[in-house]
Amino acid sequence: MTDYKMHLLICGGTGCKASESDEIKNKLNEFLEEFELQDEVQVVLTGCFGFCEKGPIVKVLPDNTFYTQVKPSDVEEIVKEHVIKGRPVQRLLYTDPTTDKHISDSKGMDFYKKQIRIALKNCGFIDPENVDEYIARNGYEAMGKCLTELTPDEVIKEIKDSGLRGRGGGGFPTGLKWEITKNVENKQKYVVCNADEGDPGAFMDRSILEGDPHSVIEAMAICAYCIGADTGLVYIRAEYPLAIQRLKIAIKQAEEYGLIGDDILGTGFNFKLELRYGAGAFVCGEETALIHSMEGLRGEPTFKPPFPSVSGYLGKPTNVNNVETFANIPVIINKGAAWFNKIGTEKSKGTKVLLWQEKSTMLV
Ligand SMILES: Cc1cc2nc3c(=O)[nH]c(=O)nc-3n(C[C@H](O)[C@H](O)[C@H](O)COP(=O)(O)O)c2cc1C
Repeated sequence: MTDYKMHLLICGGTGCKASESDEIKNKLNEFLEEFELQDEVQVVLTGCFGFCEKGPIVKVLPDNTFYTQVKPSDVEEIVKEHVIKGRPVQRLLYTDPTTDKHISDSKGMDFYKKQIRIALKNCGFIDPENVDEYIARNGYEAMGKCLTELTPDEVIKEIKDSGLRGRGGGGFPTGLKWEITKNVENKQKYVVCNADEGDPGAFMDRSILEGDPHSVIEAMAICAYCIGADTGLVYIRAEYPLAIQRLKIAIKQAEEYGLIGDDILGTGFNFKLELRYGAGAFVCGEETALIHSMEGLRGEPTFKPPFPSVSGYLGKPTNVNNVETFANIPVIINKGAAWFNKIGTEKSKGTKVLLWQEKSTMLV
């Protein structure tokens, strides 16, 4: 494995891609090759950094230098000055709006200072199209622990103790929902990820799927193990082509590594995952309408009960959770319910990914 001395992380989320981040990546690679630095400096196209207003963003590690609004024409200077001579390009650094001073290290930026990243922990750090990078940051460790060390009831207890509530809008306690679905007797059950994200201007779920698709896949497998399902479905709106592309790549890589499929990690547990596309109707984010849409019926809500946990997709017990809800699961298993429970409000634990409407940027 190459021991890189420096990493150049480029935001490859939808927003920065629209501002030529692919071209920036290509040019960085071209210049690094020209100076024969390709074995010392690695260029990584990551998911969203959250600070879309200032994109495209290029972050340099190990020093955390945070370049904003980078253009392909800036790349030559970044390589010649920063990479080769170790002198950060001052004009591209973030300027603090209150002090008007350049901030070189992203850790010193007000925008990031108060953030605790749980659901977004890998976004902006890893290449979402490379399962090895997810695994290097404890990826699939939580699933391994659940399948080999914990019973479904023990996992559900951990999720209940964590105080996690659904992030899709209703705020239903996640562990309790899993328990209800588990306790319904049926040979065939389903896990559904609600990636419809119909709220106008919202892109929290899209950011997670574009930047860290494996976290959702891993969580869905854990949920399936708990409730006794062997099939997962991600209902995702067709307007999210990049998230769909990255999910497809992630599912394929997880299958190739035996992380989903038959007899996962030799435990006898089977879990397959498929995508279903929505046509962008807001109402189809509501779970009963979503299920009807997946069944090929008109996307209309129906009265509850019956709840999907009892009678959902094709009339079978179905556990529906939001993307962000799922993205919290592996971290809760890895760090423990007690750790998660210390963060958040009295009645709702953990963090919330949110949009800062004024500037259309995202905080955690
Ligand atoms: C009109 C309407 C639209 C909704 N849209 C979404 C959506 O886009 N994404 C989502 O996750 N939940 C949405 N919900 C909530 C879902 O019905 C459901 O409660 C949620 O997906 C459950 O997941 P959670 O427990 O993880 O929050 C919507 C609800 C209503 C009433």
